[in-house]
Amino acid sequence: MQSNTSKPDFSVPQEELDKQAQYAAMAESVLQSRFPDRKPRAFVHTYGCQGNVADGEKIKGILESLGYALTDEIEGSDLVLYNTCAIREHAQDRVFGNVGKRKAWKEADRSRILALCGCMMQQEYVAEKIKKSYPYVDLVFGTHVIYKLPEFIYRCLCDGKRVFDLSGGDGNVVEGLPVHRDGTFKAWIPIMYGCNNFCSYCVVPYVRGRERSRDFDTVVAEARHLIAQGYREITLLGQNVNSYNKDKDPSLRFPALLRAINDIEGDFWIRFMTSHPRDCTPELLDTMAQCEKVAKHLHLPVQSGNDRVLRDMNRHYDREKYLSLIDYARQKMPDLSITSDIIVGFPGETAEEFDDTLSLVERVQYTSLFTFIFSPRPGTKAAELPDPFDRAEKNRRFKALTDLQEQIAGRRTAAMKGERFCVLVEEPAKEEGFLSGRTEGNVIIEFPGDKSLIGTFRTVEVTEPKTWVLKGKLIDDKD
Ligand code: 5AD
Ligand code: SF4
Repeated sequence: MQSNTSKPDFSVPQEELDKQAQYAAMAESVLQSRFPDRKPRAFVHTYGCQGNVADGEKIKGILESLGYALTDEIEGSDLVLYNTCAIREHAQDRVFGNVGKRKAWKEADRSRILALCGCMMQQEYVAEKIKKSYPYVDLVFGTHVIYKLPEFIYRCLCDGKRVFDLSGGDGNVVEGLPVHRDGTFKAWIPIMYGCNNFCSYCVVPYVRGRERSRDFDTVVAEARHLIAQGYREITLLGQNVNSYNKDKDPSLRFPALLRAINDIEGDFWIRFMTSHPRDCTPELLDTMAQCEKVAKHLHLPVQSGNDRVLRDMNRHYDREKYLSLIDYARQKMPDLSITSDIIVGFPGETAEEFDDTLSLVERVQYTSLFTFIFSPRPGTKAAELPDPFDRAEKNRRFKALTDLQEQIAGRRTAAMKGERFCVLVEEPAKEEGFLSGRTEGNVIIEFPGDKSLIGTFRTVEVTEPKTWVLKGKLIDDKD
């Protein structure tokens, strides 16, 4: 029996992983005999947050290990997999719409595989709806059993029956899965899975299970490996990175992880998301300030500026505590760029309570905001609360908030004119001959330059500040 003092073990037993390796070999050989002249093609699309994107990279890695070639051409593919998100109703509606559009594709060749996974599928009622109303979907699995994909594919190929697996409950941690990284210079590293916070509006704890942290040394080794391969930006991911290792090893918490990765030799930035203000400590902010490779960007979702709303959201901090964290962070890092998430129209939010959000936004002066209208999620506490305000009123408040943020962002970017910034050059911009780079503070600057600069750090001077995208010019090393 497990004693109270022993560390929780979320790992999947080795026999189970060995079984999956056998399924992988069997699936690969079935695929080889069905596709003697070419590789089978897999189209994978991921919705939602970076955590889901990181899952998508594992899914793609597993599919490649079975012999699939990844493709962007959905119509000519042999397998379509949607890795879904449940965070808001709108995200779910898009998935149902896209699954509906796959009917003709599936009926044109019944040996094709249509698969759905991710947060949305981890909800019982969604899986039931797929079972009943979308009979041409072959495979549905939840967030905790990605490692079983070889078995699922084998069963779809050979059993001719639909496969549903939503097991997992509180979740697990599986190491060693193959990963197909989408980027060549920016990489995601999940450091923990799940969430224990139970914010009253949020479905994540239900679909992703309890918090589980990955092993400290494993994470550092993964970062070291990526940096040695030439990655220039490492983003550490978790629903609440500040509670990293709370469940396992209190002597190696998130600040220690940042320091260990910061100590790796090389030219790279470390980013992280998301920080919950409840667990954001002065120690974390001091660590950010002291670690030169940690980007001076803090995404600290506030959700609301009103104490009653924050209480009903079960956020465990109030406006004053949030603002004192912001003040402390700015005192330690005067150039810090701060971004946030805000929900408008939480059940019962009054006009005065919403005004508190506006005044908080004015006070903090965010670089940018992710703003959402409250979406009731079945099974969460907030979905049961009375909600007297209609959609038109919520839309009006949403616009007031985004207008205010636009003014703030406009003022902030205007002040950047003539200044020089180091950017990581990311991709060609829309405008011919221009590149798009991102500053440490997560601001995009577009400037004329050659595509060979993509994936490198460059210095850029802001010439024309626009609200969201700034124009700049490349500064030569000689300048
Ligand atoms: N309705 C609207 N927005 C939500 N978010 C999470 N759940 C909901 C919901 N039910 C937002 C929060 C969170 C971000 C990822 O999504 O602002 O920080
Ligand atoms: Fe990510 Fe949450 Fe959406 Fe799942 S529900 S994909 S954890 S944002």
